[in-house]
Amino acid sequence: MQKQKRVMVPDVVKRKGTEKLVMLTAYDFTMARLLDEQVDMLLVGDSLGCVVQGNDNTLGVTLDQMVYHATMVSRAARHALVVGDLPFGSYQAGAEDALRSAMRMVKEAGVGAVKLEGGGRVCESIATIVEAGIPVMAHLGLTPQSFHALGGNRVQGKNLEDAQRLIDAAQAVERAGAFALVLEAIPAPLAREITASVAIPTIGIGAGADCDGQVLVANDMLGLNSSRAPMQFNKEYCVLRDMIAGAVNQYAKEVRKGAFPDAEHSYLAERTRQPRLSRI
Ligand code: KIV
Repeated sequence: MQKQKRVMVPDVVKRKGTEKLVMLTAYDFTMARLLDEQVDMLLVGDSLGCVVQGNDNTLGVTLDQMVYHATMVSRAARHALVVGDLPFGSYQAGAEDALRSAMRMVKEAGVGAVKLEGGGRVCESIATIVEAGIPVMAHLGLTPQSFHALGGNRVQGKNLEDAQRLIDAAQAVERAGAFALVLEAIPAPLAREITASVAIPTIGIGAGADCDGQVLVANDMLGLNSSRAPMQFNKEYCVLRDMIAGAVNQYAKEVRKGAFPDAEHSYLAERTRQPRLSRI
C-alpha cells in the first residue's frame, strides 16, 4: 500500500472551495488506526465526555483526560492531522490559560492543532495561541460547552439576529487567526452564507452540504451508540452495536456449552519439561 502524505494545516486551508475535507472523531489508538488513512483530520473531541465517559454533557472533561486520549490518537495517526479539543475550564479564564492548555496538548499529546468553542469572547485566546505557533480550529453554532446557557443541544442561528451574530463571530475568529471553523447544528442556508463569507474552511456537523468539509462522531456514524438520543444530523453508515451483540451472544453460548475454546484455539503441545519436584 502506498504511504500517504501527512496532512498539515496549510493542506487543510488550501482545500477550501476545491476538495471537501473529511473529519471524524477518535478517542483511542485502535479506532484512530482504523480511521486514519481515510480521513483528513482526526478530532479528539471533548464529546468523549458523553461517548466514552457516559455523561450527559461535555462539561466535566478535564485537560488531563484530553491529553490522555489525544496521546493515544496521535500515536496511531500516520496520515491525518490530529486536532485536540480544549475542554471546558481550560481556556475560558483568559488567553494565558488558553495558551498553557494548548501547549500541553501539543507538547504532551502531540496534536497538530487545538479546537476551542466560541466567538468574540475567545478571539484574544485564539490570537495568543496562534501567535505561539499552534494552529487553532474555532467552533460556532451549537457549542456543547455552553450547554446550560443554550438550554441543551438545540439548533442555533434560527432567527435573523442570531444568524447575524454567527456570521460576525465567524469573521471575528478568522481575523483572530483560526485556520478552520466547525459549524454545528445551524440551518444549511446560514452555513452556506458563513462559508462564503470567510476565507478559512468550514467543517459542518448538522450544517448542511455547503460547508467545506464534514465531521461526525465516529461512534455515532458507525452505529455504536446505544444509550444517547441520536442528533438528527447523524447518519449511521453501519450498525456495529448489532454486530457486537451478535458476536458476544455467540461467544457466551459457546463458552456455556463448552464449545469454546476448541482445539484450534488451544495449546495442545505435549509438555516438554517435567514438573518441578517439590523439595522433600
Ligand atoms: O467534541 C466533539 O466531538 C466536537 C464535534 C462534534 C465537532 O466538537
